Amino acid sequence: MTRLLPASDPAALAEAARVLRAGGLVAFPTETVYGLGAAAFDATAVVRIFEAKRRPAFDPLIVHLAGAGELRRVVAAVPLAAERLAERFWPGPLTLVLPRLESLPDIVTSGLPSVGVRVPDHPAARALIAAAGTPVAAPSANPFGYVSPTTAAHVAELLGDAVELVLDGGPCRVGVESTIVSLLEDPPALLRPGGVPREEVEELLGCRLRVVPSSDRPQAPGQLTKHYATRTPLRLLEAGEAASAPAGRRVGLLARERAETGFAAVEVLAPDGQPRTAAARLFAALRHLDGLGLDLILAEPWPEEGLGLALMDRLRRCAAGRDD
Ligand code: TXA
Ligand code: MG
Repeated sequence: MTRLLPASDPAALAEAARVLRAGGLVAFPTETVYGLGAAAFDATAVVRIFEAKRRPAFDPLIVHLAGAGELRRVVAAVPLAAERLAERFWPGPLTLVLPRLESLPDIVTSGLPSVGVRVPDHPAARALIAAAGTPVAAPSANPFGYVSPTTAAHVAELLGDAVELVLDGGPCRVGVESTIVSLLEDPPALLRPGGVPREEVEELLGCRLRVVPSSDRPQAPGQLTKHYATRTPLRLLEAGEAASAPAGRRVGLLARERAETGFAAVEVLAPDGQPRTAAARLFAALRHLDGLGLDLILAEPWPEEGLGLALMDRLRRCAAGRDD
């Protein structure tokens, strides 16, 4: 049976750390989405993550650290750009891809010579990693290809008994996954837009990131085009296209700022119009609409700047492969 314990309780954190050290799985809150963690150097425990998620083994995991000072436990070299990014954005929703240490099990990196690392900006996550005394490998705590969980209840519902312990740290503040930047090349590459706006990374580095189309990186960011999918077909509206429900069908609307009439259900992502607000609500709103047995979900588009880039990335993936 999955146990749900409050992340603010020191005894719960100690218990979760014990589960990790014993080779078990713990779902824990981060500022982006909930993670499904295992001790990174315990290959058998990491295999259990793939089983729990039914995740293809070619999709490498992000290793979570309690602080930037622990980078050398998993990374072979720390270029100056990585130091500067870590100093500016950690703890926070930025994952850096760096050369890995040989001692890290291959299952964590899918055999790649690199590893994705980040320091999460949630006190319970860092306290857990510190108490466990080990870097923690963790993907988002959802079955492969489904919408990421932003509450502990989502995790319990999605993964059930596959996880021993779920730490409940409340709803995730950011709501979309971390931005992934590869420092293996020059200029660095944006592998996935996410919680840290691309523009802020570029400003700090003083150069444009190379943007890697998802089709060019099958080995990397689990960014198979059809990812983050709802079971209900979703269509992303064009900019300026009016949202209207086709007659005779039960259609839900994922609206930006204002509810429209004529839909079977409407979720407004950001009454204040801010992409930041929308990101924090996106996955919960998708999950809610997906549970209503609708024929179709229509989603209003966002301007592709700041967090809008991550919003549109997730919405496009959700819509991919559906011809509705
Ligand atoms: O916000 C987040 O990043 C959340 C929380 C839990 O930290 N984690 C997350 O993990 O989104 P996951 O596994 O759902 O997505 C991580 C992505 C994967 O698509 C994976 O392919 C990519 O990071 N990745 C990991 N290591 C990599 C590497 N060495 N090279 C390229 N991509 C890598
Ligand atoms: Mg994921």
